[in-house]
Amino acid sequence: MKFKKNILGIGAGYVGGPSMVMIASKCPDYRVTVVDVNPERIAAWNSDRLPVYEPGLETIVKKTRGRNLFFSTGIEKGIQENDIIFVCVNTPTKTFGAGAGMAADLQYWEKTARQILENAKSPKIVIEKSTLPIKTAQAMERILSSGKKNITFDVLSNPEFMAEGTAVSDLENPDRVLIGSRETKSGLAARAALVEIYTRWLPREKIITSNIWSAELSKLVANAFLAQRVSSINAISALCEKADADVSEVAHAVGTDSRIGAKFLKAGIGFGGSCFKKDILNLVYLCRFYGLPEVASYWESVVRINEYQQDRFIANILRSMFNTLAGKKICVLGFAFKADTGDTRESPAIAITRKLLAERAEVIITDPRALANAAVDLAHEKGNIRYVEDPYEAARGCHALAVMTDWEEYRKLDYRKIYKSMVKPAFLFDGRNIVDHRKCFEIGFNVFPIGKPALTRF
Ligand code: NAD
Ligand code: UGA
Repeated sequence: MKFKKNILGIGAGYVGGPSMVMIASKCPDYRVTVVDVNPERIAAWNSDRLPVYEPGLETIVKKTRGRNLFFSTGIEKGIQENDIIFVCVNTPTKTFGAGAGMAADLQYWEKTARQILENAKSPKIVIEKSTLPIKTAQAMERILSSGKKNITFDVLSNPEFMAEGTAVSDLENPDRVLIGSRETKSGLAARAALVEIYTRWLPREKIITSNIWSAELSKLVANAFLAQRVSSINAISALCEKADADVSEVAHAVGTDSRIGAKFLKAGIGFGGSCFKKDILNLVYLCRFYGLPEVASYWESVVRINEYQQDRFIANILRSMFNTLAGKKICVLGFAFKADTGDTRESPAIAITRKLLAERAEVIITDPRALANAAVDLAHEKGNIRYVEDPYEAARGCHALAVMTDWEEYRKLDYRKIYKSMVKPAFLFDGRNIVDHRKCFEIGFNVFPIGKPALTRF
């Protein structure tokens, strides 16, 4: 069958996978190929056990795979055969050299640019889907125009705003799609080609077009604003605990102001995930680079409050449990950085578990989707860690429960049954405020929510 457009996604991760799957699903007359350097990842995409857990994703993959959606390790062939290339490779925080711990590590990105240049035999539209520092498109253009083949490349910025756990619905019905381009004749034509893809399932007014630098920067700013809301409410949760206010009531009262809005005001143990911290640090680095130290430290404080919130959580556990955790069993309920994903990158549960181990507590971890990743994250930790799938089994014989992930099923656990199997006095530290605190207190637990008065018998 001859396809109307041939599209390539480079990088079959949390973004490249689902976003290309959605294009294949909405555009059956386009051929979509997703390539990756990691053969295991590609094999998993071609198997019944996808490498990424997202509600609803498997059904779409089953419908499209082999029809107009293909996963492959043939990067060079992919570049040769496709005209529109989405680059979705990872851009983690640099761990070495200048900007270590702050700037984005662009080595995977640059390698891809060079591969495109080496293998292209016809004009390409190259789309930045990864989150990148402002002006990356310029570097990309310089690399792509350094060849001798006289091929034209148009670079677009089309950052992805989907969140994990809701990727399918976010991609199917996003608040907006952002496309930045050069305002030249060929830049505008490339932009129009990308708009055409998205209008296959989205109304035109949902597609925002802008200059390329605005698009690159908007992605970092959107994540910074979202993370800032989480840090803002978490900072207030500390005050609530001191002053007997209830952070959920405050968030509701504040969030019903339509200028403020209700979303992203859930206090907890802090934001995790592969992007918020990385993208804010990248923004901070850029501000310093451009000589704006005040702006840099303003945004840096969002990350500092996030760390403070985790420190507070563990200090509270230690203080409440009579200043010693040595030899005590703590059941960690949830290890994923949020519900409905198996992803544990930058999960607050990692830092908190490390601190529990440093106090010589025995840690029993349970999670419906993230146990394999948890075991990888903690592989080099010394201390007593067990991974148990069944939450009731995990809690048996423990001194405390620590809720780390807002899994719906943790709201509905039989806490009476759990309480009966635990060492007394039994403690419940709800790092996500999802449990019925009053009910658990009545069952017998000493309950410590975030940003609300503790319910204890001492
Ligand atoms: P990921 O690590 O899950 O996936 C990246 C993939 O790229 C990996 O499978 C890796 O093997 C592959 N890769 C690296 N170099 C390659 C190369 N030269 N050729 C082919 N494949 C290569 O990362 P991710 O979470 O999908 O994030 C990718 C980008 O998208 C990042 O910039 C991130 O900030 C951004 N982003 C992520 C999310 C999210 O929810 N995870 C949301 C929006 C934006
Ligand atoms: C976030 C953004 O929401 C996406 O728009 C963006 O595309 C993505 O980052 C990215 O660039 O990677 P994600 O990290 O997948 O998505 O998940 P979120 O729902 O934003 O949650 C991030 C963290 O904040 C989680 O740990 C979550 O538990 C925490 N959070 C969120 C809170 O503690 N309180 C809230 O009210 C909301």
